[in-house]
Amino acid sequence: MCELNKLKTPSRLKSLALICSTATGLFSGYCLLNEDEQFYEKVVIPISHCLHPETAHRVAVAANKYRLIPKSPYQDPPSLKSKLWDLCLSNPIGMAAGYDKHGEAVENLHDIGFGFVEIGSITPLPQPGNEKPRVFRLPLNEAIINRYGFNSEGHQAVFERVQQLKAKNFNGVIGINLGKNKNSEDPIQDYVTGIRLFGPLADYLVINISSPNTPGLRDWQNKDQLEKLLTTLVRVRDELKGRKPPLLLKLAPDLTESQKDEISKLVLQKKCRIDGLVISNTTTERVEELQGEHVIEAGGLSGRPLNDSSTTMIAEMRKLTRGEIPIVGVGGISSGKDAYDKIKAGASLVQLYTSYVYHGPPRVTRIKKELDEALRSDGFNSVSEAVGGQTKSAKSYS
Ligand SMILES: Cc1cc2nc3c(=O)[nH]c(=O)nc-3n(C[C@H](O)[C@H](O)[C@H](O)COP(=O)(O)O)c2cc1C
Repeated sequence: MCELNKLKTPSRLKSLALICSTATGLFSGYCLLNEDEQFYEKVVIPISHCLHPETAHRVAVAANKYRLIPKSPYQDPPSLKSKLWDLCLSNPIGMAAGYDKHGEAVENLHDIGFGFVEIGSITPLPQPGNEKPRVFRLPLNEAIINRYGFNSEGHQAVFERVQQLKAKNFNGVIGINLGKNKNSEDPIQDYVTGIRLFGPLADYLVINISSPNTPGLRDWQNKDQLEKLLTTLVRVRDELKGRKPPLLLKLAPDLTESQKDEISKLVLQKKCRIDGLVISNTTTERVEELQGEHVIEAGGLSGRPLNDSSTTMIAEMRKLTRGEIPIVGVGGISSGKDAYDKIKAGASLVQLYTSYVYHGPPRVTRIKKELDEALRSDGFNSVSEAVGGQTKSAKSYS
């Protein structure tokens, strides 16, 4: 009898373990399918944040690559439908550049509910980027400092990936963000090559001259260099056969007043006339409220502390460009209100990255729901009606 019990106990334990793991699996699956915010906040994000930020980033992109994150059950409401240039988007919330640097996660990011995905920055030749560690979380500020320095698989590898995606008839909106190689002897040519290669594939192109982690890159925002750069790039884009993709310029939030003034005047000139500004990249400023051991790290700061300054800059640049150049607003968006503030400041579309790191896919849905509510409570039927505007009721009195 005693011998019999001994045999049975391990198999009972096994059954119990099997039941527990099946129940846990089913529960997790249920939570993931339903985009349960609590499950992400209390389980998924804390587990992923046990990993080093760069490892967590790689794991997250790999999960996207194999489409492990279920499609969001949220249906975008009609108010969020957006049209810009010749593009129609189901919603105006995009994944910012830097998350999917090599174009591996595009389909799954659309599944999650992003209205568009900007891949890159991509450099012409593959390059490893800066030494590790090069990404740091500042959880108390919901911020990140990164100095990746354009780690890129290079044009050819990313081009083939995007080409395969397009061959499958993927019809989500894809922006391609172009960078330059660290040791490039001819940076203008780096961007020219990118425009010629990716122009026929991209829904829009972004010229990134505002990353703080590539020496000398931000100098291209200075008047003389920028004029030379844009004159060439606008011409090269115009020479593309077939559709001419919108060409955007991504700016740093740390520009001086005179730089902003000069850039605005330049981009309004015919020969330098770009189709949009992306405002903004990460900042090298360190506000006082930053906390934690990593505040001293060099690199670009993103997330909540960037929110107000990027919104202010959107409003400034809209005014300086007389509302003639569409703006993609990015920097610290974590709620529908943040997105709405940027839209009211003048952004036609918005993007986020850092709040996704801290809250996961449910945050995208939350932002969309909150934005829809905010638009409706101000009497707007669409995002475009609200761009650069006051509330509708205020408008009718002005
Ligand atoms: C880890 C990391 C890497 C980034 N890499 C790029 C990049 O390669 N190219 C680029 O234009 N912006 C890059 N960015 C900047 C973002 O696109 C965005 O402009 C900035 O993070 C502000 O948005 P957020 O506060 O929502 O993150 C990166 C940001 C982070 C956090």
